[in-house]
Amino acid sequence: MQSKKIILVTGGAGFVGSNLIEQLVKDRGNEVYSLDNYSTGSKNNHIKGATYIEGDTSNIVKLVKVKPDLVFHLGEYARVEKSFEDIEMVWRSNKDGTFAVLEFCRTVGTKIVYAGSSTKFGDGGLGRDQSPYAWAKASNTELVKNYGIWFGLKYAITYFYNVYGPRELGNKFGTVIEIFRQQRLSGEPLKVVSPGTQTRIFTHVDDIVRGLILAGEKGSGDGYGLGAEEEYSILDIAKMFGGKIQMLPERAGNRMTASIDLSRSRDELGWHAEKSIKKYVLELVSNIKST
Ligand SMILES: NC(=O)c1ccc[n+]([C@@H]2O[C@H](COP(=O)([O-])OP(=O)(O)OC[C@H]3O[C@@H](n4cnc5c(N)ncnc54)[C@H](O)[C@@H]3O)[C@@H](O)[C@H]2O)c1
Repeated sequence: MQSKKIILVTGGAGFVGSNLIEQLVKDRGNEVYSLDNYSTGSKNNHIKGATYIEGDTSNIVKLVKVKPDLVFHLGEYARVEKSFEDIEMVWRSNKDGTFAVLEFCRTVGTKIVYAGSSTKFGDGGLGRDQSPYAWAKASNTELVKNYGIWFGLKYAITYFYNVYGPRELGNKFGTVIEIFRQQRLSGEPLKVVSPGTQTRIFTHVDDIVRGLILAGEKGSGDGYGLGAEEEYSILDIAKMFGGKIQMLPERAGNRMTASIDLSRSRDELGWHAEKSIKKYVLELVSNIKST
């Protein structure tokens, strides 16, 4: 009998990680583990068939006793504007934690798929320094790349563009689509950070998960952009939801434009986003109206 492929997902109890695990466990040839410290993740996101290890990535060597064939590294602090308040957490998770994960992969000889952030491409490349989060994610892509150069580590770096879909967070760590859904559901005005004309590329989590799995199988090196082809302003999205809009003051870290290069994902992975944010929001609104 062929032995199973051991896959570790850091951040497996989070939004993207739990959707990834849901797909990975469908393949009976996979044995799937999650390492999560539950800082934003939740046990409600656990998927049957996976093994959950509780703890911080900085302790990965002590906590993970298996030898993975592949690591998806998603377990980092993951919010842009809030990262100014939480810089200590950003440092612990995204610098100390990621260093430990890289050392683990180097020692075990495992390929790593890194969940990079598209924030570094925002505003013509200025995005990388616009918040503690963006900088930590951007500098980590350099560190992953250098582990490839220094130690021959196998890696693929993906870049996510505003992910939405099932299990998206709506709490203080929430992201815009779920926050708008909850505001619309409760009849509150939709709160749009000024100027509202800032554009984003919204990508369904199913598309992201498909891209991650392909990057795990065939990706090698940097530059796998995973984003949809349409771009919308935050005001456009709020208008799709309908209802009242309340403008909030501008916030630090809020990039104005997105920028995407899909060539490696398209040409090497055969990937393109299949789902549309417009259709998703219209369905959410019709569900809200019928409740
Ligand atoms: N959601 C997006 O739009 C988006 C966009 C670009 C990049 N990303 C990246 O994708 C990854 C997943 O994001 P998400 O939206 O699912 O966020 P999330 O907050 O839902 O998931 C992150 C998970 O990692 C865990 N975690 C955080 N720090 C950890 C640590 N030090 N040790 C162990 N576990 C830790 C959290 O508890 C959580 O379960 C992150 O690396 C994020 O930077 C997300």
